Amino acid sequence: MDTRKVHINSFGCQMNKLDSAIVTGALEDAGFTLTEKVKDADVVLINTCSVRRHAEDRVLSHLGHLKHIKETRPRLVVGVIGCMAQRLGAELLDHEAVDIVCGPAQIPQIPGLVKRALEEQKKILTVTQNIRRKCSDDQSDALDNFELAYDSDKNHIPGQAFVRVMRGCNNFCSYCVVPYVRGPEVSRPPQAIIEQIKKLAADGVKQITLLGQTINSYSFPAGDRTYRLADLLEMASEVDGIRWIRFITSYPVGFDESILHAMADLPKVCPYLHIPAQSGSDKILKAMNRGYTASEYLDLLTKARRIVPGIAIAGDFIVGFPSETDADFAATVQLVKKAKYKNCFIFKYSPRPGTRADDKLTDTVPDDVKKRRNVELLAVQNQISGEYNKCFLGRTLEVLVEGPSKKPHLNIAENAGRPQLIGRTATDYIVVFNGPESLAGELAEVEITKTSPLTLFGKIRE
Ligand code: SAH
Ligand code: SF4
Ligand code: F3S
Repeated sequence: MDTRKVHINSFGCQMNKLDSAIVTGALEDAGFTLTEKVKDADVVLINTCSVRRHAEDRVLSHLGHLKHIKETRPRLVVGVIGCMAQRLGAELLDHEAVDIVCGPAQIPQIPGLVKRALEEQKKILTVTQNIRRKCSDDQSDALDNFELAYDSDKNHIPGQAFVRVMRGCNNFCSYCVVPYVRGPEVSRPPQAIIEQIKKLAADGVKQITLLGQTINSYSFPAGDRTYRLADLLEMASEVDGIRWIRFITSYPVGFDESILHAMADLPKVCPYLHIPAQSGSDKILKAMNRGYTASEYLDLLTKARRIVPGIAIAGDFIVGFPSETDADFAATVQLVKKAKYKNCFIFKYSPRPGTRADDKLTDTVPDDVKKRRNVELLAVQNQISGEYNKCFLGRTLEVLVEGPSKKPHLNIAENAGRPQLIGRTATDYIVVFNGPESLAGELAEVEITKTSPLTLFGKIRE
């Protein structure tokens, strides 16, 4: 047993946060204790993201800070794990502050690597050599077992947990680094997924979010049938204790209607779809290698709204992709107006080394233009959300309570001497209200008294 202290920090997406949670469980099992403070830590682990340059820059600046700390505490062990570790490998290990570099597929080794680094004070590198080669069955089993053994809701929001259903991605959108850091698409066996959900439910988890980069392409052949996402949703719905089931992220091609029917027919499946469009210009969509046109995308949203009335839809966009003109951007604005999203995540194009867009296209759009388009698109979406959200006034919504709100000033509801809590509806709307902290992880009914583009405010029904 090791009683030394580990600080772990996540810089990436939900996949990355899930990896951190699993690694945390494994380290605790090996006897380490977790600490919130770098200054108390014997080991600092940074779980990294490579999706945009900004994400990598944050990690590099954090490493600069750790290098400084190591001048007075040379025995501090620093490990870089996750997507940036896989992308940069040995180059990262050369950084003065870094002792361990470990890719996403090697995370089951982390407790052992940390022990070795503490004892031997030697640099250690473990990443996948050929990332686009399908990993061996042994490695896949090791990842599955690791996931099953250490997955928990502990480091996450009370009552909620993520469950990975797929790893990797085969889509090769021309701008995206994910296929080069997470490897080929692999669907996990449905039995392992359901076993995991049962275990989480027994631990008190009420909401699970199934994770995959293109989750609608989940496919697992077994005997004479193939399990698809709709089958998983049905099987997960049968697990006692689970109240809400979500899944992210969907890809607009190969989106089977069965998923929408599962959403409409299974009460536990939340009527919420995160389905990025990325652009509204067919020229740009083609250059992005997305495989659909703007009108095909909008047709899919129309179908989703027909089959699942009341469905909430969220999107992602990249502005300033190479060669994006004002006219292309205007097409994106038009698509956002037509799509009537609940919310959108908007990113400025960031060239990623090794991707096709970076190899073949010049980053032509100046940063100030990217910034302006980003702000404009967000304003268009906020206007739509602000107007739409008024329809919630006076309605009572069921929310899953997450805990105290981090931005208490947001809530102008009367403060009845109780903390301001934050919760989410099944459609993923954020609701802020006053209530007892003990409600964290529970479902509650809130009457909406005020709305804004991003948040609803209300009073708890008691
Ligand atoms: N698998 C998911 C998203 C993965 S990355 C999907 O396909 O929907 C999350 C988001 O980051 C993407 O939807 C995209 O909008 C954005 N993104 C990815 N690569 C980017 C890049 N090089 N520059 C800017 N944004 C990027
Ligand atoms: Fe990246 Fe495209 Fe795969 Fe999403 S679908 S992870 S954007 S390559
Ligand atoms: Fe996620 Fe970033 Fe990796 S978005 S999969 S942590 S590159």
